[in-house]
Amino acid sequence: MAVQISPSILTADFARLADVAAKVADVADWLHVDVMDNHFVPNLTIGLPVVESLLKATGLPLDCHLMIEDPDRFAPAYAEAGAGSVTIHAEAAKAPVRTLRQIRSAGARAGFALNPGTAVQDYEGLLGEIDMLLVMTVEPGFGGQPFLDIMLPKIRQARELIGKHGGEIWLQVDGGVSATTIERCAEAGADVFVAGNAVYGSQDPAQAVRALRAQAEN
Ligand code: DX5
Ligand code: ZN
Repeated sequence: MAVQISPSILTADFARLADVAAKVADVADWLHVDVMDNHFVPNLTIGLPVVESLLKATGLPLDCHLMIEDPDRFAPAYAEAGAGSVTIHAEAAKAPVRTLRQIRSAGARAGFALNPGTAVQDYEGLLGEIDMLLVMTVEPGFGGQPFLDIMLPKIRQARELIGKHGGEIWLQVDGGVSATTIERCAEAGADVFVAGNAVYGSQDPAQAVRALRAQAEN
């Protein structure tokens, strides 16, 4: 699977989201949108109305990462609205199989995310329901946190389980992914890289995306 870069808008200027998207439109594969509800994580960002506006404002497919308490209730609407990918959290979903199927049947890729403390082997049985597994490499909630090196064995383990399962499941990493950490993630088996600060904290976000891709492909 080719390397994919999904810049996260979390720490960009929320008053200028169309410009924020435009900065990486020619070089990124996705735009990563962090939906937070102040309950699942101690931070509040944006929801469906802003995602709908963003869909009109950019040609990039949206990679919606739902850090919300009740994804079973709210996730399908993001897929129906036209998000390219919708990721729900293992720790929050009470009916993951149903919700992942609803996401897929609405035409989006179904993503499944694991917090740092959540074991990947517990979810091996769900691999047939998902298009992307997200291994969080920070505790979710905020951008700009340091990468958790202790997650590298879990990325490797996730890659092995995916290999054993067969089929094409993307392996995404999110949190602290930067010029100094992306090579380790790629080496461990990740192929979709979310980067917030490393892209939007840079003077030249497009160049930052190109550089991250080159490093991950190395
Ligand atoms: C954290 C979010 C991430 C965040 C990543 O909870 O899920 O997507 O924006 O930001 P960086 O790359 O700055 O760690
Ligand atoms: Zn995210």
